[in-house]
Amino acid sequence: MRLSSRVQSIQPSPTLAINALAKAMKAEGQDVLSMAAGEPDFPTPAPIRQACVEAIEAGHTGYAPSAGVPVLRQAVRERVAAYLGLQVADDQVVVSCGAKHCLYNAMQALLEPGCTALIQAPYWVSYPDQVRLAGAEPILLPCLEDGFGLNRPAMEAAIDERCRLLVLNSPSNPSGHVLDADDIDFVAGLLRAHPDLVVLSDDIYDRLVYSTEQPAHLLRRHPDLASQCLVINGVSKTYAMTGWRLGYAVGPKLLIAAMRKIQDQSTSNATTFVQYAAVTALRSPPELVAEMLTAFTARRSRIVEGLNALPGVSCTMPGGAFYAFASFAELLERKLDGQVLGSDMRLAEILLERERLAVVPGEAFGAPGFVRLSFACGLDTIDQALLRLKHFIGTLD
Ligand SMILES: Cc1ncc(COP(=O)(O)O)c(C=O)c1O
Repeated sequence: MRLSSRVQSIQPSPTLAINALAKAMKAEGQDVLSMAAGEPDFPTPAPIRQACVEAIEAGHTGYAPSAGVPVLRQAVRERVAAYLGLQVADDQVVVSCGAKHCLYNAMQALLEPGCTALIQAPYWVSYPDQVRLAGAEPILLPCLEDGFGLNRPAMEAAIDERCRLLVLNSPSNPSGHVLDADDIDFVAGLLRAHPDLVVLSDDIYDRLVYSTEQPAHLLRRHPDLASQCLVINGVSKTYAMTGWRLGYAVGPKLLIAAMRKIQDQSTSNATTFVQYAAVTALRSPPELVAEMLTAFTARRSRIVEGLNALPGVSCTMPGGAFYAFASFAELLERKLDGQVLGSDMRLAEILLERERLAVVPGEAFGAPGFVRLSFACGLDTIDQALLRLKHFIGTLD
């Protein structure tokens, strides 16, 4: 059998792989602590589950319009109006099987061989491979030395006539960094200078922010650039609905029509009754999310303070999402059993083998020397994980 060069150009998702390994070890009865997961540990809220049951009972079990049921597209428009101050028409919305699916459709619609897409490190693992699947070249912009903002000189230098797409993700997975207004204004300047350039704004963590101030967003600050911006979002993270597989994209009509066409010829509609549950999620009162956010806030302090108390580890306070992205660079120079640790990949392997602690190495996100620890877990798990890390550090020469 000969597989396509396209599929040979990509790797399996490292986060999904580590997660699967940790789950398998747990299933064997091993006492594994998993901080590798990218999903809230809460159940989907009861009103959303109930809406799904009612949708099934009401017979919403057949095919639906490929781009999403009208009532959900309307709920998405309301959400975008409330959150971004953007009035969009029905043909500017497409509902898909998760934000990941929206991203895939967008890359397929915008990219082709010979063109490039700019991705700032640290980046979510799927962006570069989705660019490759579209036959294009991802340009991975190296991290800044002093934080997780945009590497503006690298970005400016990488833009040429081949560049079609710039990916923004704020709050970010893996760093939790929230882009500031200066970075957003910088991007606005690039868009004005390059009218064919499109920004793909992955807003999947937009409700999971720890400041009372609204984070800077391209469309709030520069609504005139809506014709060059595709917003991608979904219900997975905000409403603890990762397994339901529902996301949406909002953007320029031409691009949305192209994404709808791709969807028509590939997956068709996202699961019909899930779409009705998503309407309930999007129209739910803020208290539904506030409860989870309160828990995440306490966990964030506990893990970041705990990490910074470990010798050789440093971690900035994430402004959003539920990940601590800590530098272990100093420790990588230390020895274990006479051998230098060397890489975060090796570190993650050893942590799983010896301490039964699953984390994701920074290399997977284009940030060697870092480790991502998800704090979508209870405070007791965080405390135990910190103890295991402390024990591990104690075994290093
Ligand atoms: C930055 C980012 N974008 C998109 C997704 C995909 O979300 P969904 O479950 O809606 O496909 C994830 C999930 O981990 C993510 O972290």
